[in-house]
Amino acid sequence: FTFFTVITSSLSQSNQFCDAGTGSSKLLVKGGTVVNAHHQQIADVYVEDGVIVAVNPNIRVGDDVTVIDAFGKYVMPGGIDPHTHLELDFVFPGTVDDFFSGQAAALAGGTTMHIDFALPLNGSLTAGFEDYVKKAKKSCMDYGFHMVISKWDETVSREMELLVKEKGINSFKFFMAYKGLAMINDELLLEGFKKCKSLGALAMVHAENGDAVYEGQEKMIELGITGPEGHALSRPSVVEGEATGRAIRLADFVNTPLYVVHVMSIDAMEEIAKARKSGQKVIGEPIASGLALDESWLWHPDFEIAAKYVTSPPMRKRGHDKALQAALSTGVLQLVGTDHCAYNSSQKALGIDDFRKIPNGINGIEERMHLVWDIMVESGQITPSDYVRLTSTECARIFNIYPKKGAILPGSDADIIILNPNSSFEISAKSHHSRMDTNVYEGRTGKGKIEVTIAGGRIVWENDELKVTPGSGRYIQMPPFSYLFDGLDKKDAIYLNSLQAPVKRAKVSS
Ligand code: URP
Ligand code: ZN
Ligand code: ZN
Ligand code: ZN
Repeated sequence: FTFFTVITSSLSQSNQFCDAGTGSSKLLVKGGTVVNAHHQQIADVYVEDGVIVAVNPNIRVGDDVTVIDAFGKYVMPGGIDPHTHLELDFVFPGTVDDFFSGQAAALAGGTTMHIDFALPLNGSLTAGFEDYVKKAKKSCMDYGFHMVISKWDETVSREMELLVKEKGINSFKFFMAYKGLAMINDELLLEGFKKCKSLGALAMVHAENGDAVYEGQEKMIELGITGPEGHALSRPSVVEGEATGRAIRLADFVNTPLYVVHVMSIDAMEEIAKARKSGQKVIGEPIASGLALDESWLWHPDFEIAAKYVTSPPMRKRGHDKALQAALSTGVLQLVGTDHCAYNSSQKALGIDDFRKIPNGINGIEERMHLVWDIMVESGQITPSDYVRLTSTECARIFNIYPKKGAILPGSDADIIILNPNSSFEISAKSHHSRMDTNVYEGRTGKGKIEVTIAGGRIVWENDELKVTPGSGRYIQMPPFSYLFDGLDKKDAIYLNSLQAPVKRAKVSS
């Protein structure tokens, strides 16, 4: 049997798709509890041509409108995953999910937009951007890009400006790990932060001390520890905490906002907590696996199972997961990503004799929305409104596309999910929609099931069936100067005013 129908006859012609798929471009989601980050109410949601037109109780419509029953269920903004790697060719062989299969999986799990990390091509940011535009042509949901910076010169600086001013990029990622490949030193990090600030673009960091990681890896190999457990042992949380603290202090020195991707440890989280407490604009992004899993899997006697869990920074000891959950519920961390980066077991097997050669990456793009609901809402740690904020709204605000995305409001894009809190989900590689042959959450069950996904006003997931069209996803341009930049110029002016005129000293004759 097939898991999803691919409608290929109507590339980019949404009307045709609509007729083939749902029969109407007008939808009414009836009687559900509509949840936004600021408010929830029982209401109907009326959609026309991909946009939410009205949110009110008892909306009356004609019979040309498709009505979807949501009584007793939550109607929420589709998830936005701030951290994915589809069709990635970096360090390791290519990932198995491309912009079509990864997005199809996302839609089946209630995520309706993602922001992927575009890589430079032969050192050029603009060539890298164009390369990703090509890769994303087969998209079936909306997407944006962050751009990775892996070296520094005048050309890179100019290209950053062009990407922000003309191409809809408003964030740049710097790798403090992957020594000899993408790792950048503090000098470059400072140059990059300054440029980001001048452009109103958000600086993001992969925070692990790459020199320490390299040292740790050498040590494990010398000790004869070559299995997946060597991955965790070689890069303990102290190297994540150190890099996180360093990046935060350098961003403070430059006075620019900072976004720390994949926060996996208490060490890193506490650096973020301390900075935020002092008033610094630092965003911390844990990922679904950091909330749901721990490092014990890396000691599994079956290599194929253990290798699935290799990702960087690594999963930590039990306790870090709970601390990250608590940090999310108290606002120390602000949103949840996945770092979805899909490799098959045959690719993971490249590192059978040496953990350093195991492709780094785990799945999550399809599972995140269910896991966060189960782990955070069902446990009583957060409310449905908090859930919307952590999985959608805050991401839209940080990347400056709110309330087009991240809200159920008149004028917002019709990216909507219906979650049944009384139903349950079960995760397995046998039923997931990613091309991966394994799943790090194999066999996991939980409460809450996303029964319907509406993306761009189209019903793409219903009755456990996907109806997706390659080419129907749109590139979402993200403008610079998000709310994180508000007030920075005032702080800069106060700092400049505080500098006294140079001290006049009498010349001392020798
Ligand atoms: O191990 C990981 N996370 N691979 C993807 C690249 C990155 O560092 O985010
Ligand atoms: Zn139609
Ligand atoms: Zn990373
Ligand atoms: Zn990543």
